[in-house]
Amino acid sequence: MKIGFFDSGIGGLSVLHLAMQALPDEAFLYYADEEHVPYGTRTREEICTYVDEAVRFLIGEGCQSIVVACNTATSAAIEYVRGRYDLPILGMEPAVKPAVQHADGKRVLVTATPFTIREERLHHLVKMVDKEHLVTLKALPQLVVFAEREEFDSPQVRAYLSREFSDLDLHDYGELVLGCTHFTFFRPTIADLVGPDVELIDGGEGTVRHLVDVVSGLPSEGKGSVHYYRSGVPQENKEELEFYARLHAQLDKALMFDKED
Ligand code: DGL
Repeated sequence: MKIGFFDSGIGGLSVLHLAMQALPDEAFLYYADEEHVPYGTRTREEICTYVDEAVRFLIGEGCQSIVVACNTATSAAIEYVRGRYDLPILGMEPAVKPAVQHADGKRVLVTATPFTIREERLHHLVKMVDKEHLVTLKALPQLVVFAEREEFDSPQVRAYLSREFSDLDLHDYGELVLGCTHFTFFRPTIADLVGPDVELIDGGEGTVRHLVDVVSGLPSEGKGSVHYYRSGVPQENKEELEFYARLHAQLDKALMFDKED
């Protein structure tokens, strides 16, 4: 099956990375809307227009299912695009539910973009699962900017995160939700800052499990492949492919770190 992945930028690679491991025989297309990143500070109308454009492009390339590998785009536009196109369109959800379950009575810090943090969709989810009012919401928009610069650990990244966490007593927290797909790249840095007693969790695995269900029973491509597009422009030259190889290597490190932890 041809499966389209979409994000405003490089964040969705963190979900694609897991999907390529879970479904090694499928053909993946990855669309990064680098012309309009970041989405987290945009309006719903803008995001709906961009997501619609990307979904149309991926369908035009023959995709039979699409993963909106972006929490912000899911919050803003998933119902909109599902209503317009007749194919499975999967979205992301900040992993608040498993975090509250694992937190064992400790507090849960949910991080995401300003759009996701503001949106009714997240507030509704928190209301459903956070019966004991243990959840704190925090927008970390600058992490998207750092990620797009391939800056995953630097004095600037650490200073930014330390500043953002300075009003929290991290000893009270048992779980930290990475509610933006870009944030997965920072797992080792964030884990180092918050310490070993705070577990980091994201929604990537849940979405990939759902994708495996959608794909199961349908004919596979037989040979795994991946193609990358920046707002519709194919990325094919050596330098461009090296860029994606570097990001997958960073994800190997980030996700491996998680397993060792
Ligand atoms: N990667 C995106 C998310 O999961 C959004 C990043 C952005 O464009 O602000 O929310």
